[in-house]
Amino acid sequence: MISVAIMGHGVVGSGVDEIIRTHKDRLFSAIGEELDVKYILDLRDFPDSPHADRFTKNFEDIVNDVEVRVVAEAMGGLNPAYDYTKRLLKAGKSVVTSNKELVAQHGAELLQIAKDNNANYLFEASVGGGIPIIRPLSKCLAANNVDEIAGILNGTTNFILTKMIAEGMGFDEALKIAQELGYAEKDPTADVEGHDACRKICILASLAYGKHVYPDNVHTEGITKITLEDVQYAANYGCVIKLIGRCKVEEGGMMDIGVAPMFVPCSSQLANINDVFNGIMVRGDCTGDVVFYGKGAGKLPTASAVVADVIDCALHLKRRKLIFWADSKEQNILPMEESKTALYIRINTEDKEAAYNTLTSALGEVKTLSRVDAPENEVAFATANEVKYGDALNAVEALKAQGAEVISVIRIGNL
Ligand code: NDP
Ligand code: HSE
Repeated sequence: MISVAIMGHGVVGSGVDEIIRTHKDRLFSAIGEELDVKYILDLRDFPDSPHADRFTKNFEDIVNDVEVRVVAEAMGGLNPAYDYTKRLLKAGKSVVTSNKELVAQHGAELLQIAKDNNANYLFEASVGGGIPIIRPLSKCLAANNVDEIAGILNGTTNFILTKMIAEGMGFDEALKIAQELGYAEKDPTADVEGHDACRKICILASLAYGKHVYPDNVHTEGITKITLEDVQYAANYGCVIKLIGRCKVEEGGMMDIGVAPMFVPCSSQLANINDVFNGIMVRGDCTGDVVFYGKGAGKLPTASAVVADVIDCALHLKRRKLIFWADSKEQNILPMEESKTALYIRINTEDKEAAYNTLTSALGEVKTLSRVDAPENEVAFATANEVKYGDALNAVEALKAQGAEVISVIRIGNL
């Protein structure tokens, strides 16, 4: 019998406990031994849980118990998860987690501590919920140079955008439903402002390129400024709006990485990924495009990935799994102003011709977009080609200087 502990009994942690109880036989045949949930750490009591007798509020019970070999961390947040994880790894226990905030911020250090203590630190659930992506990227695609990763990495925002696009639902109502379904972060600002997707693209970039990419260095925008009017313009241009996390390494080794809402052409594989589903495209130099798709959030999909890591640790109690990247203080991230993208710009102006002329002289050919019932003074443009984002920002300032009110500036993804 292998004793495990679960830290956190919220959406994910309760799912981990449930799968271990309900899939006992399946887990036994995968591991060859029974998994026993010896402790569940949480701040609250859960008297109705079938494992009510296993709850503790004292982390020391877990770290000091030599029988506990694997710990699933599903508390979320940086502290005390960071401190607890370090202490568990130093005690030689393997840790698995769904906590992408922690992995994105301290992954390199925690992987090093795991290595030094011959323990495993696994985090399949930290990106894409139930979608297998960490193992495939680090193992199955290991022979490739990864040219690009792009994806819909946040279930909450994809759910909100789908409700807005398909049902015309308002932002606040859609967010409330996502929270009720257990998709959103404790503080949903992390979802809607893009920080959660940023943490995930940082984890994927760190894994693909072998050096830690810190979220603070990555340009991040959320979906809070997206309106139904933008959605209509996107539809008339043959696109849908999605929150995209993307990274690619440019010639010379600079990494172009960021998170932003984008117009995604309806022909793209990412365009039809709706609701809580995520989709991640990995472009390998040998494989070409490989796309991963599935539920990106929610209790059982996420817990499924956590339990898979528990199984892996249980099978490798004495052998370390080779998931690793090095810490790096190197500044190899391309400044946002230098990155290239096509753009959609929506303005209110009394002089549409002057605005058109300003944009064409700054950004080259632009197309004028339309939507039904647009007010007389509203106009939207799309650049025909990719432009430097810094040049686009200058053009936006020039529009403002000539009296235009700039309402929206959204990237048009080449996806
Ligand atoms: P929840 O808030 O539902 O669950 C967290 C649980 O941990 C709560 O019961 C909380 O108690 C408890 N907890 C928090 N701090 C402590 C502490 N110091 N000691 C003991 N217990 C503590 O979050 P989720 O389950 O949704 O998410 C957990 C992690 O998984 C997060 O990192 C999240 O980003 C990640 N994740 C979530 C997914 C989802 O679909 N929900 C999907 C993929 C990843 P209390 O409520 O009293 O604070
Ligand atoms: N809040 C996250 C999301 C949970 O909506 O994608 C899964 O990581």
